[in-house]
Amino acid sequence: MPVTPTLKIKVWDWPTRLFHWLLVFSVSGAWISSFREYLLMEHVWFGHTVVGLLVFRIVWGWIGNGFARFREFVTGPQIVWEYAKMRFRNKAPRILGHNPLSAWMTVSLLLVLLGITLSGAVTLAGEEWIGPLAKYFSMEQGRFAKGIHVWLSYALLSLVTIHVLAAFLESFALRENLILAMISGFKRPPLEVETPLEKDKYSNGIKSVYPDVKLQYWFLSGFVLVVFALTVGVSFDYRTPLTQEALAEQQSPEHQLYMSECGSCHFGFHPSLLPHRSWEKMMSDLENHFGEDAWLDAETTQAILDYLGKNDAEHFQSEASFNLMENVADNELPLRITKIPYWLMKHEEISEQIYKRKSVRSPLNCGACHGYAEYGSFEDGHIRIPK
Ligand code: HEC
Ligand code: HEC
Repeated sequence: MPVTPTLKIKVWDWPTRLFHWLLVFSVSGAWISSFREYLLMEHVWFGHTVVGLLVFRIVWGWIGNGFARFREFVTGPQIVWEYAKMRFRNKAPRILGHNPLSAWMTVSLLLVLLGITLSGAVTLAGEEWIGPLAKYFSMEQGRFAKGIHVWLSYALLSLVTIHVLAAFLESFALRENLILAMISGFKRPPLEVETPLEKDKYSNGIKSVYPDVKLQYWFLSGFVLVVFALTVGVSFDYRTPLTQEALAEQQSPEHQLYMSECGSCHFGFHPSLLPHRSWEKMMSDLENHFGEDAWLDAETTQAILDYLGKNDAEHFQSEASFNLMENVADNELPLRITKIPYWLMKHEEISEQIYKRKSVRSPLNCGACHGYAEYGSFEDGHIRIPK
């Protein structure tokens, strides 16, 4: 005679449930914000949240409550295969926590997310030149990482689709709302008829619930504190699209000299916008500088040339310099930044009227529209066309 269960059994502890839904939230946010370049910082924030959640979940997989622990649900390939066969014949025992198949879905999701966040951090460092890794990766490495980042994101999307479909299908098959169970934490207890001895082979059930509650509380409160400190630290570091080191470099007397000599008639163009050979050529003939006489004594010329040499397109690789140089051949000698195809392409939609505005005056006035142009950064998030 079937028994109608009235009791409920706690399967998912609150940290696991909170983790699950925060992960849904931050992955969705990261996905949506990835469609627009100017939402990059939002995208990065969602990414950071995912990293925090992953760290939490991995630790919780060791110290969490019974069903949250990896050793509770991760099984070897043979058991997965056996279970899968039974599942498709609709003969699988009901398992309270993760069954062997959903266990591997969980592990795959965690691993793919780990790969996505790591490759994302490298992309950010190499391509956008921001974040704690900014110093360590080149533009090429950043681009390579971006390929992996995008590819893994598609993999994640497929996994999530299967995961959600499976949750719905299982809910119907077991006549138990699994989505609700991830909100409330409760499931109905195993029935007599559902408890073949074999079940223990697939899941240790609630036998392994011996969590060290004290340790859990230490970890949870420590975790919150560390995440808080990191958030403050990281937002400080991401305040500008420049590393602190690069900013300090720009405060140097060499930079000041350059800006006062070459930033008086027009905006002081960042050295990274032209290759070394262009600067050399320009500095060798300052008397005939675009129809003006910009003569400087030999000593000053040399000091400026040294400064340019340390920060030209070959030495100071930002997203802007990389893109500008990408379609300039080695035998070309560009003297005007504003004649480089990439520059023309990026500004073709800006009308004459805008350039005529008092607040802009000329296409050469990069700093009017690009915050941080003086430092060689042309991030999308800092472009503002003034009124
Ligand atoms: C006496 C004024 C004056 C000084 C000083 C001066 N320039 Fe110029 N520069 C000009 C003029 C004028 C142009 C052409 C502007 C135009 O076409 O609208 C120009 C154009 C340029 C361009 C090309 C910009 C583009 O993309 O069209 C570069 C690069 C440049 N200057 C670099 C320098 C450097 C480096 C120094 C310092 C050694 C310097 N300038 C000092 C007047 C000056
Ligand atoms: C009137 C405003 C204005 C001025 C002046 C201006 N830009 Fe821009 N620039 C823009 C806008 C707007 C975009 C973004 C175009 C887009 O979204 O594709 C842009 C894009 C760019 C990009 C591409 C950014 C990226 O992420 O790929 C670079 C590099 C750049 N500008 C460099 C310069 C330089 C160097 C100067 C000065 C010689 C300059 N700009 C002057 C408005 C301006």
